Amino acid sequence: MKIVRTVKELSKVVENYKKLKKQIGFVPTMGSIHDGHIKLVKDSIIENDLTVCSIFVNPIQFNNLEDLENYPREEKTDFIKLRKVFCDVVFAPDEAEIYPEDFKKIKFRFSNALSILEGEKRPGHFNGVLNVVKLLFEFIKPDRAYFGEKDYQQLWIISKFKIRFNIPTEIKPVVTVRSKNGLALSSRNKRMNSKQIIIAQAVYKALTDLRKKVKFYFNQKNKNKIEKKLLKKIKLESVGNAISSNSLKIEYFEIVDVENFNIVDTLFLEKKYRVLIAVYVGKIRLIDNISI
Ligand code: PAF
Repeated sequence: MKIVRTVKELSKVVENYKKLKKQIGFVPTMGSIHDGHIKLVKDSIIENDLTVCSIFVNPIQFNNLEDLENYPREEKTDFIKLRKVFCDVVFAPDEAEIYPEDFKKIKFRFSNALSILEGEKRPGHFNGVLNVVKLLFEFIKPDRAYFGEKDYQQLWIISKFKIRFNIPTEIKPVVTVRSKNGLALSSRNKRMNSKQIIIAQAVYKALTDLRKKVKFYFNQKNKNKIEKKLLKKIKLESVGNAISSNSLKIEYFEIVDVENFNIVDTLFLEKKYRVLIAVYVGKIRLIDNISI
């Protein structure tokens, strides 16, 4: 596995492959590699001749300095995990390599999805993601790029970004990898204690238990009722595990139409929707989603 630190070195590798008409797969990450990332890498290896994984904790997508400072950084173990699954190239640049002094941030405005839910709670987040993804795509020129459904809103925005800006890279969604108790794998999980993990698992269980109810009975009038039921279910499940769930708060619980990412309060059987939820477990913030 080749570890590349500069854009210049990376461009050489990419050019050589492009000359040979080889297909390049790209897995962007912020490191702290877990089995969710490994699934993206494995999918890329199957579908491409060369797989490039980037590790870069992108400062401009954090709207909270404490979150940026506490974000796990484990480069050495990340390299070991990626080598083990035969990733070809890891691009692990420093900040100045990605954002030289003359870098000018672009302000993206192409969709309402940029400023609702995660976009509203974390102002500037998606703009930061799009700026770095745009640069990484320019450096790597991937034929395919792999994004997890765990960050469903990010995946949706990047798919629209590709269409809006005519980017030739195919965006490949990859289903969320979960622990056997249903917890969606995330680098942030490392910051949770064992009690918080049990509550977080209860969130997914409650969501899936209520899937049918949401699908057939959700409407503007009973939205609050369903949300209360959800919270009750999560709390019951957590208490069932001898844990007090007082620290649990739902930040948002919304259903979006996957066509246009509009938040809806009426469901039509022939349409596809995604339930999106953000919860606080103490100071830890978790997001999850399921399709309905
Ligand atoms: O999903 C992530 O880890 C990040 O948002 C990404 C896509 C690597 C951009 O920094």
